[in-house]
Amino acid sequence: MTDFVYHSPTKVVFGRDAENRTGELVREQGGHRVLLHYGGGSVQRTGLLDRIRRSLEAAGVSWTELGGVVPNPRLSLIRRGIEQGRAEGVDFLLAVGGGSVIDSSKAIAYGMANAGDVWDFFLRRRKAEACLPLGAVVTMAAAGSELSASCVITNEEGRLKLGYTSDLARPRFAVMNPALTVTVPPYQTACGCVDVLMHTMERWFYHSGGMELTAGFAEGLLRTVMRHALILRDHPDNYASRAEVLWASALSHNGLTGCGTDGGDWACHKLEHELSGLFDVAHGAGLSAIWGSWARFVYPCNLERFVSFATRVMSVPRGDDEETALRGIAAMEDFFRSIHMPTTLTELGVRPTDAEIRLMAEKCYAGFGGPVGKIKPLNIDDLESIYRSAR
Ligand code: NZQ
Ligand code: ZN
Repeated sequence: MTDFVYHSPTKVVFGRDAENRTGELVREQGGHRVLLHYGGGSVQRTGLLDRIRRSLEAAGVSWTELGGVVPNPRLSLIRRGIEQGRAEGVDFLLAVGGGSVIDSSKAIAYGMANAGDVWDFFLRRRKAEACLPLGAVVTMAAAGSELSASCVITNEEGRLKLGYTSDLARPRFAVMNPALTVTVPPYQTACGCVDVLMHTMERWFYHSGGMELTAGFAEGLLRTVMRHALILRDHPDNYASRAEVLWASALSHNGLTGCGTDGGDWACHKLEHELSGLFDVAHGAGLSAIWGSWARFVYPCNLERFVSFATRVMSVPRGDDEETALRGIAAMEDFFRSIHMPTTLTELGVRPTDAEIRLMAEKCYAGFGGPVGKIKPLNIDDLESIYRSAR
């Protein structure tokens, strides 16, 4: 077992009509002037934004608004948000949306609380010393940004998608009403389920450490998400299944399923961020397109973790170790296909050229600052091979 710090300070308000408490939650956290940040239209169409405005008004909280966040949130809008927030005397960021909106809010919160260029943090040039407090009203189960320390944004110049992680940006509260996620389209729902699974799978595939309790949480979470992803494929308005997946999205990325391990592998996320940076694909779909190729490349370096994944998570009967591990990988790919998620780059809809593959491998390596992943630390040639075999 590896020593660990578990820090999950976010207050979660979960259930029906939870969004009506948003104003009161902002007040509780000392917010008076909010930057209300949202995406490209779903929150207007569903009437959620109006309910949030009413809740803020009832709590005596004033606000200014900035919409227009796109999936793979852009630095240019973040810069606008920082300017607007400063000009308007904002003291609290309120994200209403999915992971992209929450991450855009985190970046604005960093930018407002620190002098200089916010992009510096993502380039690892310096560390943030502060972050404006923020809260999230979550509208889809996926990224888990509502409880996570991460923030992933895209700089349009050079199409660089980079993350920055600090406990400073963990939201003060997360409002999670499963009913708000019923309107998420089937493709995005499936992408979200993949991302929720992957946040725990990245942690499952560690190199050292480990705890039985952590493995139990992880196994339960993975099995639950797979079961309910299938229900949601056929019955998108099933509230109980929406609730299971939404709660899993938060717990899959707040550290719980990695306690006592070396932190997990995370190579697939790094590989995927290059794909969504360059081709603007949905993060979850990019993950399912690359995972099998990564798994087949690295499994001999920690056969035991792949065997336990196959038997404990995918219910593969135990046989010869190598065969069992490979059957576990194939079973997960079957699951991805069963929810209409891609398992190759072609199915993802992208056909990178050789030069683009090399570029992604180089950027991935540079962005990580060296060999990527834990099971098998991957150099540029390894990363290139994984992209190639995923085609
Ligand atoms: O913009 P609107 O109109 O709101 O539409 C969004 C968007 O088009 C739509 N949507 C969201 N809630 C909806 C809805 N449509 C109907 N009804 C609703 N209730 O869904 C689309 C995707 O939204 P987005 O926020 O991009 O999805 P997701 O939550 O998957 O976030 C993806 C981003 O998070 C990053 C990803 O890389 C990607 O940039 N990640 C962030 C992490 C973190 N901060 O901890 C961890 C993840 O690994 C991930 O990297
Ligand atoms: Zn993810």
